[in-house]
Amino acid sequence: MRILDANISLQVCTFLKDFLNKISSFENVNQKIFEAFGINTFFENDIDFQRLKESVSNLAISSVEESDRAEYGDFQTNKELANKIAQQLAKRNISPEIIIEPTCGKGNFIIASLSNFKTVKKVFGIEIYKPYVWETKFGILDFFLSNPNTYKPEITITHCSIFDFDFKSISKQFPTEKLLIIGNPPWVTNSKLGGLNSSNLPKKSNFKNQNGLDAITGKGNFDIAEYITLTLLDAFQTHNGYLALLVKNSVIKNIVFDQKDNKYRVGEIEKYCIDSKKEFNVSVEAALLYCQLNSKPSFESTEFDFYSLEKRLVFGWLNNKFVSNLTNYNKTKEIDGVCPFEWRQGIKHDCANIMELERVNGHFVNKLSEEIKLEEDLIYGFLKSSDLKNTVIKNTRKHVIVTQTKVGQETSYIQHLYPDTYNYLKINISSFQARKSSIYNGKPQFSIFGIGDYSFKPYKVAISGLYKTYHFTLVLPQNNKPIMLDDTCYFIGFDKIEYAVYAIILLNSKTTEAFLKSITFSDAKRVFTKDLLMRLDLLSISKTITQKEIEKQIIYLNNKYSLSVKLSDWDSFINEMIPKKEKQLTLFG
Ligand SMILES: C[S@@+](CC[C@H](N)C(=O)[O-])C[C@H]1O[C@@H](n2cnc3c(N)ncnc32)[C@H](O)[C@@H]1O
Repeated sequence: MRILDANISLQVCTFLKDFLNKISSFENVNQKIFEAFGINTFFENDIDFQRLKESVSNLAISSVEESDRAEYGDFQTNKELANKIAQQLAKRNISPEIIIEPTCGKGNFIIASLSNFKTVKKVFGIEIYKPYVWETKFGILDFFLSNPNTYKPEITITHCSIFDFDFKSISKQFPTEKLLIIGNPPWVTNSKLGGLNSSNLPKKSNFKNQNGLDAITGKGNFDIAEYITLTLLDAFQTHNGYLALLVKNSVIKNIVFDQKDNKYRVGEIEKYCIDSKKEFNVSVEAALLYCQLNSKPSFESTEFDFYSLEKRLVFGWLNNKFVSNLTNYNKTKEIDGVCPFEWRQGIKHDCANIMELERVNGHFVNKLSEEIKLEEDLIYGFLKSSDLKNTVIKNTRKHVIVTQTKVGQETSYIQHLYPDTYNYLKINISSFQARKSSIYNGKPQFSIFGIGDYSFKPYKVAISGLYKTYHFTLVLPQNNKPIMLDDTCYFIGFDKIEYAVYAIILLNSKTTEAFLKSITFSDAKRVFTKDLLMRLDLLSISKTITQKEIEKQIIYLNNKYSLSVKLSDWDSFINEMIPKKEKQLTLFG
């Protein structure tokens, strides 16, 4: 049954009906509830008191539909899971005196803590959504009515936004007590909140001090849960106790990654992977982040399966390198360095309906199924992440209009040189103006990003940033024009096909694949990034493969894809990769 939009048991409803009728002021009720159950300020004011009193006596059970709670990242932990987590912590002899549930929702972690930890003196819960505050309080009453002999700690459930809550005051008040921070902070990113026009954000939402470009490219996209976890670590890192929060895997990765700068006094960082589909009915990789507070800072995390407690791997910092699997990394780390060629991201235009075309019977058709006549000059073959399945690509299904040769270039030239293209773009100007990203502000009309001399290199070696396929593709020119890639892809470009073929052989080698697997996180939104690919030291990779093997691969590619590449440029390719400084030393050595 539900009252004031909160679930309530018959036991609690009957109890409250009787209890509230006997007392006339909310202050007196609050005092009585505190004495009987330890809950502080059960009613915030007289209005709340009268509303609940009326609801329980008339049994005015609400039938209001649950509101859309997307902006609150609302995924309530089921009772069984909350209980299992508390049980596992109790088994490790964790015996907290203070429990903090930063965003307590319906209160399942609070109830699980009350039933599993017998040493608790105080409980603090914070929740933004009033019906959940009620539900937590009702749940606590229900727990104590069902377990009347259980010890009752002092419990404070605060109805407010966590971003207005002063954790430092709890930190100062209880400097020596053993803490347990337990819960499941909201699963929502700042960019999702931006899209929802939500203000459920910390005041300083650019909390990682990222620059504008990082924010634009998505590096500034962070989970609210990450901010909350860091706030808690900030306030409680020097207290004795533990933190156990259910968060997305990406949050745990970021926290371990940022340990290099933050150096929070947390040790024994562990990650217990849960089955989110089963527990929350969502396809998001999530886990319990566990760590010990007030420890020597740790820079790595051990990953386990939550259900079997089987150890899977260790990830984190090794010297100055961040890796996803320390054991495997150690086997291939000799190729971790700096790539001699610069990895680039493909073209970003945010205007697929107009800019992306297919060629049908000699004319072009855009994504709106409009047939268009355009000059050929600005049209290039175009590949997306999903196209990069084969080892060699010579033809593309899609095409793109490339309006600039470098970022910021004036586009007025199109009108004079390519009137059909200009007219088409001009007719569709509103689609360009509707582009949300601020990078287009103040730029010439029809601007694109991710464009430069490198885009026009005829031979490219590319990989999708989005897929977990550790496979590189050789992209060859189409009708004597370089093929372009979209901004979900990364590539290095070459003027000579030989260099591109040598590079792809090195990049598709077993050593490279094993190395990439040991530094990438398969649950990341972008498995591959420029930073990560730049770690591929092709020169070192070349030392792990024999000339014979290279030759064998060249013959295979030549036969399969009708190429006529020779090994004769190998030495100059290697020479090109040797850093200038080293070359000078050999010269004078
Ligand atoms: C993922 S749910 C988990 C709830 C609860 N901790 C549990 O484990 O079941 C996140 C909770 O955070 C609450 N929440 C979202 N934004 C909040 C904010 N700014 N301050 C406090 N609570 C918030 C939501 O209403 C929701 O109850």
